[in-house]
Amino acid sequence: MGKTFYITTPIYYVNARPHIGHAYTTIACDTIARRHRMLGDDTWFLTGTDEHGQKIERAAQAAGKTPQQFTDEISAQFRALWDRMGLTYDDFIRTTSPRHQHGVQALWRKIRDNGYIYKGTYTGQYCVSDELYVDAEPGAPCPDCGRITETVHEENYYFKLSAFQDQLIRLYTEQPDFIRPETRRNEVLSFVRSGLRDLSISRSTFSWGIPVPDDPKHVVYVWLDALANYITALGYGSRDTAKYDKYWPADVHMIGKEIVRFHCVYWPAFLLAAGLPLPRGITAHGWLLFEESKMSKSRGNIARAETIVDVLGTDALRYFLLREVVFGQDGSFSFDALVQRYNSDLANGLGNLASRTLTMIGRYFKGEVPYPSHAAHSAADDVIANAAKKVIADYGQLFDQYQFSRALEMAWGLVAAVDKYIVENEPWSLGEKQDENSRARLATVLYTSAEALRIVTALAHPVIPDATAKIWAQLGLGDIGKFDLKQLQWGQLRLGTKLGEVQAVFPRTDKSAVVRMQKMEEQNGAAGVAPVEPSEARPMPASAASSSVPAKPAAVIPDGKISIDDFAKVELRVAQVKTAERVKGADKLLRLEVDLGSEVRQLVAGIAEAYAPETLIGRKVVIVANLAPRKLRGLESNGMIVAASPEGGKPVLASFLEDVPLGTRLK
Ligand code: MSP
Repeated sequence: MGKTFYITTPIYYVNARPHIGHAYTTIACDTIARRHRMLGDDTWFLTGTDEHGQKIERAAQAAGKTPQQFTDEISAQFRALWDRMGLTYDDFIRTTSPRHQHGVQALWRKIRDNGYIYKGTYTGQYCVSDELYVDAEPGAPCPDCGRITETVHEENYYFKLSAFQDQLIRLYTEQPDFIRPETRRNEVLSFVRSGLRDLSISRSTFSWGIPVPDDPKHVVYVWLDALANYITALGYGSRDTAKYDKYWPADVHMIGKEIVRFHCVYWPAFLLAAGLPLPRGITAHGWLLFEESKMSKSRGNIARAETIVDVLGTDALRYFLLREVVFGQDGSFSFDALVQRYNSDLANGLGNLASRTLTMIGRYFKGEVPYPSHAAHSAADDVIANAAKKVIADYGQLFDQYQFSRALEMAWGLVAAVDKYIVENEPWSLGEKQDENSRARLATVLYTSAEALRIVTALAHPVIPDATAKIWAQLGLGDIGKFDLKQLQWGQLRLGTKLGEVQAVFPRTDKSAVVRMQKMEEQNGAAGVAPVEPSEARPMPASAASSSVPAKPAAVIPDGKISIDDFAKVELRVAQVKTAERVKGADKLLRLEVDLGSEVRQLVAGIAEAYAPETLIGRKVVIVANLAPRKLRGLESNGMIVAASPEGGKPVLASFLEDVPLGTRLK
């Protein structure tokens, strides 16, 4: 075994079912882990679920379940999906598991005993969506995600984050690779340089968390709890620390860009306080956008990996995400683009190269790798051999810098070059002739093509494991899992190797696949089972790339009517008014905070002439929950309250005679 390699995904919140945004990070880590295993590294790949905190507690409430029931179900959905997608995680940590809880308490004690925890009182704003203490006025939106914050007044334990400011700055400057890409590093540096304040690390107003050692009225702040997973999963704080001793520090924590601060500031500070080694690096990728904004259940713009796996198999999404999205930047997802990539690069690209090369070896050489001949050698063969050697040299470097799209572009450049080489050398015409020269040339052309195919197959295996394992077996090379990637060189394909059975690995598809996937997603959306996911409803910058969402087939709809699909786009939900007040200088407007069960939102409504604010408190209302946020008199309104609005009369709020749980959808 070579060196060790430890890679982690963030642990996913279990407040909603997984979508391809979550799959993106896990796929990237899986690909990296697979490459390291192929290189002979002793690899450990960790993923899991983040199950504590107020957000999860509220989501469970909204679903009418106990937090444990709820988290058990959703955590199992994540795990089942990763299994179905063939993701090769070595361990799956749940923050509700006893091993994690013990580890977190051990970490707490260590930090406390080292003198970095003290008791104080926190009064300020808390953003439940982000599980983050924020600098904001009461009632003001979260500066990070724009959601309304809640006022918290609690006796808390504090962590002396301020004590680590200089050490952190030194870390980022002396180890510039600690945070990648550089844009994120610069953001973190300027955040830390602007001054760090101590951090409240316990909560006492709810109980869904890990009890603070020796003071169980408090639960550990969810981010301290969650971040610790990276060591508790290895046995930190338990009797068996063999894995911790072997794999920690992690080589890379892979994360989405919105959780950089927690990983690059809080996590190293916690570790420094505990006297533990720091991870070697943290890499942040961008967001997957769908219909122009970050994919999230609350926006209703999600695509699920299950749908794609059902229609196109497990490799298509992996290839698409790593080839199409420049890692580190935001990228767009659409079913149309997915199918286009699948056809051009997989079905018509690698798949076609494999089937035509192997079929011809079957036909002309009885399925045995033929002998290239010096006599029949041509300069074109060298062009391919040299291109392949360059790909071997460069692909790994690009890959190890997480430049997946460039690495794949390069490997597929070789696929295209071999395709051209085959077309120009016309092996099918050579195959018609029986003279010795033609046979020798045919053997050389097919050997060269098969060898280039072998090289692309080996390099692409971590990205598209399923198809490449099949191609490898069809090449007569057995189990690709046993291949040592470090040894990859041009010319290793042994002459006379008996091919396996040749079968197409990427059947071509067409627009109907797009329509099928869209239908499956629509049906899934209509089921509406998942609770809202407030953390992800961040406003996106105007520059965000747009996705090309394919037009739906036009249905015939009588004039003035809308289809059921059109209606389904409007998300009407039951909410309860928590706060109501007049908006200064606007006679008609009220500022409301309404509770949707899983989140509290700010709305601005034109009902001040019909309702005195105090009469609204506690009242259940109907709101349009998926309306794009807009500003009224400088206040952000996240949704619209529904009222009958008689001509010339005052608005009358829609309400219910029976009791309805908060967050229930009207449909
Ligand atoms: N529970 C925290 C992480 C704790 S780690 C100690 C959390 N969970 S999350 O479920 O909201 O998101 C986790 C990660 O999922 C993101 O950091 C990102 O890697 C991935 N993604 C979720 N939605 C995504 C997109 N739409 N696009 C790309 N990645 C996304 O934050």
